[in-house]
Amino acid sequence: MFTRDEALDRVERAGSATDLFGPFDPARRKEAQQLYRRLAAVLHPDRVDAGDTRAHAASAELTRLHHEWQHAEPVELHTAGAVYRLTDRHAVGSVANVYRTDGPRVVKVARDPALNPLLHAEWDALRRLTRFTAQHRWLRPFYPHLVDTSGDVSRGDRAFTVLEPLVDGFVTLADVRRAFPDGLDGRDYAWMHRRLLRAIAGAHRIRLVHGAIVADNVLVHPQKHGIVLAGWSFAVTAGERLLATSKAITYPPEVHDGHPVTTATDVHMAHTLMLDLLAHDETRQRRFARWCTQDAPDRRPDAVDLLSEYDDLLDDLYGERTFRPFALPTGA
Ligand SMILES: Nc1ncnc2c1ncn2[C@@H]1O[C@H](COP(=O)(O)OP(=O)(O)OP(=O)(O)O)[C@@H](O)[C@H]1O
Ligand SMILES: [Mg+2]
Repeated sequence: MFTRDEALDRVERAGSATDLFGPFDPARRKEAQQLYRRLAAVLHPDRVDAGDTRAHAASAELTRLHHEWQHAEPVELHTAGAVYRLTDRHAVGSVANVYRTDGPRVVKVARDPALNPLLHAEWDALRRLTRFTAQHRWLRPFYPHLVDTSGDVSRGDRAFTVLEPLVDGFVTLADVRRAFPDGLDGRDYAWMHRRLLRAIAGAHRIRLVHGAIVADNVLVHPQKHGIVLAGWSFAVTAGERLLATSKAITYPPEVHDGHPVTTATDVHMAHTLMLDLLAHDETRQRRFARWCTQDAPDRRPDAVDLLSEYDDLLDDLYGERTFRPFALPTGA
């Protein structure tokens, strides 16, 4: 049972029907109905003082929100062979939003039809990675899995991509950074960077440049020490210019100068990220990262060579590798 104040707080703070009742989903109708009844019981005009105008207003608002929730249909997106019903929004990206569905997949929807070409570029990159990892299966877990796409859409419609969900247990490297404002212990960043380097070196074997290696695009599974390099909509083949750039991203000099990007561009970005994530006193790892972020692209080492270079450094610093549990602080 709610008190009057608790019920008021719930209703007044809800910015929308889903805020109050959770994601639209026919299977959750009963749950929403129960919450509605419990709140209505406390706020009903018969139960509060005649002059309690705040409660009267909240009661009317509660009824309105419940009506809205009951009548909202989850958005349906159709592809050539399937229908996806979006439920709640999972994340907001740089060009698209990622939604959960009432099924097992997530759907990434362009925020603006003008951004559709970027989603097309990502389909191309993910398909190339799928073909590549068919032969190199151990690399598959490092990349998102494309399940389905909108294909070409009508003018004014937004393209979308259906992906395998990376939801349970995953956070982004941006979440990790927020959780550790003083930076990470080098031993924790070590496993993340080793795996990130593998993802990057793998893509480079097919001449694919990610072009946006930033904290939001690196998904981390702290418990399983998993890393997935996501956000491939800026990807191009080495030697091409980026299709677009983002104001939110710090790029290496060649991008600012409008030159084509190369695999060295990714090497720069991955190690800028490393400098951003590592604690300030991680002197040796930071020195390694600076070696990889030199202004001249041809001075930066290749990702493939960095795999062993980085392992040598870790060996030197920490000796034999052991599993070091990692978790975000509770509440982060
Ligand atoms: N397969 C997935 N499952 C769950 N969450 C995902 C998945 N892919 C991405 N996300 C989350 O959604 C956010 C946005 O996705 P993504 O980075 O792919 O889109 P974007 O930033 O709009 O485009 P891009 O990074 O390709 O330019 C990510 O930062 C991540 O938190
Ligand atoms: Mg992104």
